[in-house]
Amino acid sequence: MFTVRAPATSANLGSGFDVFGVALEAPADVVRVERAPETTISITGAGSQYIPEDPEQNTVGAVAEALDAPARIRIDKGIRPSSGLGSSAASAAAAAVALNALYDRGLSREELVPIAAEGEALVSGEAHADNVAPSLLGGFTIATDDGVTQVDASIPLVACLPETSVSTRDARGVVPKAAALEDVVDTVGHAATLTVGMTRDDPDLVGTGMSDEIVTPERSALIDGYDAVREAALEAGATGVTVSGAGPGVLAVCHEPDRRAIAGAMIDAFDAAGIESRAYQTAVG
Ligand code: HSE
Repeated sequence: MFTVRAPATSANLGSGFDVFGVALEAPADVVRVERAPETTISITGAGSQYIPEDPEQNTVGAVAEALDAPARIRIDKGIRPSSGLGSSAASAAAAAVALNALYDRGLSREELVPIAAEGEALVSGEAHADNVAPSLLGGFTIATDDGVTQVDASIPLVACLPETSVSTRDARGVVPKAAALEDVVDTVGHAATLTVGMTRDDPDLVGTGMSDEIVTPERSALIDGYDAVREAALEAGATGVTVSGAGPGVLAVCHEPDRRAIAGAMIDAFDAAGIESRAYQTAVG
């Protein structure tokens, strides 16, 4: 029997759509596996009632299939589904590590990235790795068709999660199919700035580098209260604010002394819009 904890993640970071991701120190999913003749899945914890236990419809089932590793799998969700915090990816990442150990497959964490990403295809229709990569490797990750680059980083964050939901499929539906060259040029500049910020543990560069005029404006329109929450976080000292993953989570980058005030300001702003929320005072980890 193996038990593995895998962290929540935030993908995109504004300028790095489908490429950038960070692991968060909290929250996390915990997956326990035991050998069995065929795969069964049981789920407890946050939002478990919304997640299918049928292995053919669950990200973790896809991972067990890809590793040819049938098991009795128990998932304890610390990360609510449809949150923008990489809920399905964390379960897939934890299952990949646990099943790799259970069946002694000998794969490295890097080799497990595409296997865990297979599970993501079930949720979003595409096997992208921007959530599973940081959940498996930690830190800041750059996931492209050429592979994954990982950087250890330490950046304070607030991830504020409203009680509302946005499905990844819906949020992908509003992504523009084309962009103006000047917006692409700006986004490349911001993505490069953000990457340097991660290598220097510099919240100012990371916050500035999260700017994105292509995907984020369309996505943020799906999140009730987003503009007010963003404004409140910036006023409280955030160096940058963006949609976390596909939303509705909202991610703020900051200096550590401002984190508590930013969390309170974001909760209050959602509250003023009539929406309950909770804020994780966390960090890239
Ligand atoms: N990059 C993905 C998206 C992450 O934003 O749609 C969510 O799974």
